[in-house]
Amino acid sequence: GRATAGGRGRFPLKLLLLGYGRVAKSFISLINSKKEYLEELRNVELCGIVTRRGLMLSPAEHFRPDAQCDAFQALERLSPDILVDLSTPNYQTGEPSTSLYLRAFEQGTGVITANKAPLALGYTRIVSAAKKVGIGFQATVMSGTPSVNLQRVLPGLRVTMVRGILNGTSSYVLDRMAEGLSLEHALNEASEHGYTEGDPSIDLNGIDSAAKLVILANLYMGRGISLSDVKIGPVDYTHIGRNTKVRMVAHSTLNSACVSIETLAVDDPLHCVRGAESALTISSDVMELTIRGMGAGPVAAAYGVLSDLVLMYRELFNKLGALGKQ
Ligand code: HSE
Repeated sequence: GRATAGGRGRFPLKLLLLGYGRVAKSFISLINSKKEYLEELRNVELCGIVTRRGLMLSPAEHFRPDAQCDAFQALERLSPDILVDLSTPNYQTGEPSTSLYLRAFEQGTGVITANKAPLALGYTRIVSAAKKVGIGFQATVMSGTPSVNLQRVLPGLRVTMVRGILNGTSSYVLDRMAEGLSLEHALNEASEHGYTEGDPSIDLNGIDSAAKLVILANLYMGRGISLSDVKIGPVDYTHIGRNTKVRMVAHSTLNSACVSIETLAVDDPLHCVRGAESALTISSDVMELTIRGMGAGPVAAAYGVLSDLVLMYRELFNKLGALGKQ
């Protein structure tokens, strides 16, 4: 029969998606293509997709829009095990996602998000409210390259600095400009690759990098900072020298956080990046390490969400196993 997963859920785990853009579509097809390799994915079920236009029920029902049902009503009505937030970030208020997460946690629904704004504006509140049910946010920083989820395999490190190239669009644009292209032309290409935010000025002006830096600084150093604590600038795209490696760099120590455009020296650990790739250096009392990988684009983002889903599934499954043994 059906087993109880965690406090309220049952297997198969029911997912409610918030948003239906490129990341959501990639996520759905990635789940389907990885089912063969991951037993966990054969045991999850998409029970609905909610957008600003209303609720669409499972693909079998041809995504019939239901304008009567907003995300809060969908959450209550479908009572999913996991809310997957793939909606557009709202850097003014973090809403409606922030309130939705808090509501979800209250009813025992876990959250997996690729949306940076809620955590960039209210990290501490959201993460403490998530304690019992869980939140996955790998996809918010470096997409599928395990920047966030790396933290759980580094127990006890006293991290003193995080420094990274965290925005794919600006990296791509700066590289192409160093090859002689115009900003506009380069940005169009970045958009064609699917790297850009809905509003690409957020990529170029440093807000996307700053949001990611806030998430990392809070996660790794417990800084308790918010987006407005990050000093942004200079972000100047006018004098990009030919054949130089210029990047938007996000940097937090224990008492500062800033984003700026820098020319990278050849011996800089971040110098290894190519094109739109991201990289992150973590310095600690024990060691320094650098990771590098693709951090933008719908499939990369979808993989970040998928990895959180599988990890959350395993956690619930293990809890269930522990309950079974009692
Ligand atoms: N627009 C973002 C970027 C997508 O260019 O890095 C990944 O978060």
